[in-house]
Amino acid sequence: MVRVWDRVVRSFHWALVLSFVTAWLTSHSSQAIHHWAGYAAAALVAMRLMWGVLGTPYARFSQFVRDPVTVLRYLSAILTGREARYIGHNPAGGAMVIALIAAVGSTALTGWLMTTDAYFGVSWVEAAHSTAAHGLLLLVFLHISGVALASVRHSENLVWAMMTGRKRKAERTDVA
Ligand code: HEM
Ligand code: HEM
Repeated sequence: MVRVWDRVVRSFHWALVLSFVTAWLTSHSSQAIHHWAGYAAAALVAMRLMWGVLGTPYARFSQFVRDPVTVLRYLSAILTGREARYIGHNPAGGAMVIALIAAVGSTALTGWLMTTDAYFGVSWVEAAHSTAAHGLLLLVFLHISGVALASVRHSENLVWAMMTGRKRKAERTDVA
């Protein structure tokens, strides 16, 4: 086994899941909890942006953010069942990390705007927050489906890997 996800990445991930689920479930019931859960998600994302530059090798954006052509090539390899196993995030997973971080950030930003004097009650801001939140939910579903698909295709439990930080070491055809 090799160590892949450090403690910061793992804590970030599960804390983000908790704050997202809490923000979602309280969006119509408790304004106080909803706001704090949203701010927590925003703070986690800010921390992850720094860790993406300063963190351990597999936590760095430079390790897993690939150009769009590589991402498309990886997605088409999935269709023909020839996609490689990656020790870090695969190219589609890397793109999803960026999309999720951007979506959490814009959801929290538009939510906060709704509470400011300047934008309170402004309908386009409310619509933007609702659209960002629903877009984020869609990405989360795609994200969980991608995790499930990669887990099945490479016979490994990626959810467990995000808990322990460890994955099976690279074999000949894998991308370390
Ligand atoms: C219970 C539902 C979820 C499960 C089982 C899950 C599972 C995972 C797994 C296994 C990975 C690692 C993927 C890989 O091996 O490349 C991952 C990464 C990630 N997930 Fe989730 N996830 C869940 C929900 C969420 C939610 C709700 C969000 C955001 C709102 C999220 C955001 C992320 C991010 C940003 C990463 C990248 C981690 C990093 O490099 O810091 N996940 N997730
Ligand atoms: C990950 C973060 C967040 C998520 C997933 C989220 C999600 C949602 C959702 C689904 C709604 C209902 C929208 C609709 O009716 O179509 C909502 C409403 C709202 N959110 Fe957020 N939100 C987040 C962060 C925030 C933050 C940081 C704030 C402000 C500090 C905020 C303030 C509000 C307000 C004022 C409403 C309207 C509540 C109402 O209609 O009673 N949200 N949010």
